[in-house]
Amino acid sequence: MTYLNDTDKILVLGGTGKTGRRVAERLKARGLPTRIGSRSGEPPFDWGDHSTWSPVLERARAAYVSYYPDLAVPGAADAVGSFAELAVKRGLRRLVLLSGRGERQAEQAEDAVRESGAELTILRSTWFAQNFSEDYLLEAVLSGEVALPADGVPEPFVDVDDIADIAAAALTDDRHIGELYELTGPRLLRFAEAVDEIARATGREIRYTPVSIEDYTAVAAAQGVPAHVIDLLAYLFGEVLDGRNARVRNDVQQALGRPARDFSDYVRRTAAEGVWDV
Ligand SMILES: NC(=O)c1ccc[n+]([C@@H]2O[C@H](COP(=O)([O-])OP(=O)(O)OC[C@H]3O[C@@H](n4cnc5c(N)ncnc54)[C@H](OP(=O)(O)O)[C@@H]3O)[C@@H](O)[C@H]2O)c1
Repeated sequence: MTYLNDTDKILVLGGTGKTGRRVAERLKARGLPTRIGSRSGEPPFDWGDHSTWSPVLERARAAYVSYYPDLAVPGAADAVGSFAELAVKRGLRRLVLLSGRGERQAEQAEDAVRESGAELTILRSTWFAQNFSEDYLLEAVLSGEVALPADGVPEPFVDVDDIADIAAAALTDDRHIGELYELTGPRLLRFAEAVDEIARATGREIRYTPVSIEDYTAVAAAQGVPAHVIDLLAYLFGEVLDGRNARVRNDVQQALGRPARDFSDYVRRTAAEGVWDV
């Protein structure tokens, strides 16, 4: 903590989202001066509007960088690279970047941020468990049918609370500088198995239905999902979900000295919160 003095801020980009909100909560709980960087923050921050970048960097000494919508979209590597460069020019010293596992574009973004020369920790994450409760899979779970082109491929879903624990540690503890953590949960699960666990915990009938990528994107288009989101989903399910990430890693244990949270812990906690009640 020695590198932060009394007037310094820790900036949390995406600080109202799934990981950022939790990172900010952990920093605030430790009494650390934290600034949320998002369109609803004060001052507002928008990746698409460069005039909003300098104001959030005022007195920022460290930053958690979660890009929106995804490091896979065109222009993402340039945007995070330019932001990191500007941040270092403005006196920022440390960056923690949320990246995607098994994604070439995400690795380009990592390289672009590395060039800034900041003290860097990279959190290369697999699919979040919380996509089932805080993102695009919630509606499907509530409807009782999760139809996905997931083709029986297992994923080691990671709990975003683990990501936030590591991000908060990396922002405050020198031990994580230069580390690249590949973050996974402790167990491989097919989407069908994940849905079954949620069904059992909620006592509801929720079924998993395999669909082709073509049918999946056609239904999304008919529901009015914007084209760029459909492209992203097609890339994630059609390319990234090909088994390349079907390996469990030990990096949560390495970073925190304790095992990664299991998917069943996430399901139990989330069911108890009533998120999946209809
Ligand atoms: N979901 C996964 O399974 C997964 C896995 C690996 C990596 N990731 C990475 O996680 C990152 C975040 O994705 P997510 O889906 O989890 O989103 P998220 O962090 O849950 O939510 C979006 C956050 O970004 C902010 N935001 C939205 N539009 C913005 C804009 N134009 N400018 C600045 N901030 C904006 C939102 O706040 P405001 O609405 O206030 O702006 C909110 O804080 C992505 O880079 C993705 O590659 C996700």
